[in-house]
Amino acid sequence: MPIKPLNLAVIPGDGTGPEVIAEGLKVLRAAASRYGFKYHLTRFNLGGERYRKTGETLPDSVLSELREHSAIYLGAIGHPEVKPGILEQGILLKLRFELDQYINLRPVQLYPGVPCPLRDKGPADIDFIVVRENTEGLYVGSGGFLKKGTPDEVAIQESINTRRGVERVVRYAFRLTRKLGRKKLTLGGKTNVLTYAFDLWERTFREVAREFPRIETEYLHVDAISMWMVTRPERFDVIVTDNMFGDIITDLGAALQGGLGIAAGGNLNPEGVSMYEPIGGSAPKYTGKGVINPLAAILALKLLLEHQGFPAAARGVEQAVISVIPRLKSLAAGKMGFSTRQVGDLVANSLKKWSPTASSRGTSTKLSAGVTRRS
Ligand code: IPM
Ligand code: MN
Repeated sequence: MPIKPLNLAVIPGDGTGPEVIAEGLKVLRAAASRYGFKYHLTRFNLGGERYRKTGETLPDSVLSELREHSAIYLGAIGHPEVKPGILEQGILLKLRFELDQYINLRPVQLYPGVPCPLRDKGPADIDFIVVRENTEGLYVGSGGFLKKGTPDEVAIQESINTRRGVERVVRYAFRLTRKLGRKKLTLGGKTNVLTYAFDLWERTFREVAREFPRIETEYLHVDAISMWMVTRPERFDVIVTDNMFGDIITDLGAALQGGLGIAAGGNLNPEGVSMYEPIGGSAPKYTGKGVINPLAAILALKLLLEHQGFPAAARGVEQAVISVIPRLKSLAAGKMGFSTRQVGDLVANSLKKWSPTASSRGTSTKLSAGVTRRS
């Protein structure tokens, strides 16, 4: 049992973020009581509303406070009244970059009972992990305009790939493949067109592969990966790719596993502060209606627990989600047959009941779930 208490920063964020995070925290409370661990929450108010009131996105003072936490639990960032890019770059990407969360880990797993958009494919076929580079590539914002607004306008947006950045994510992917006991690591790129960037990626991949002789490797162009994800998803174990390609194929992956209602990811800095989030975004259309699916946020919590030293609790949360899925009419917002809160209750209640080690735990564990509010 871990001794170090979990000192969590919570950023509910925009849109439906606060609604799904509330359910995640309900499940965290149940998990802490079930598995006997302590945690402390500090809430941070970041997002579109703060920006509209104060013009602030992610102040340095907040960033330094966040650095002091064990992990960050994030709802969503994005506001329909704020020009695209401002909050994404000013908050979400800034967090990923400043905290050097160089891995974006996105499991693509179809749970039993989830309707799959692919005919003839089931949970055994859709079970792989995308390791997306998370601090470089097209996302760094390198480039600019020349002669903006004139007929001669030029827009340049460059993909930045460093040997160090590529090597660390590739090595992480190899280690993960080995740790999970999976057979194959696939590098996704575009060596036939992006002849500089993916030349670096491919050479690095081949070199790092020598440290892992038992792991089968393959290279595929990213367009082919998209095709195989639909026609033969079972061929994948772990895929490593750059930031932009990883962004695109993980939305495709989310669709395969039942949609954004269930897809979660971790922005990991294995040596620092990591951040866990449902990958679906702020869903303004559903905000405040109590109809959004909280399972993605709950599975983000599962990833958080798994990576923060609470593997048994993580397994418990996952089992609870698996046990609740068959009761939902659909995973889509507004079609679940339950409200957001009810789904959170179902998972929390199932978690309280489920545990293979139920009888081996003491019942007198003292819980600390203090909540500090910051603005
Ligand atoms: C994601 C999102 C973000 C990204 C956006 C909101 C900037 O699509 O987490 O996949 O492109 O990384
Ligand atoms: Mn995305």
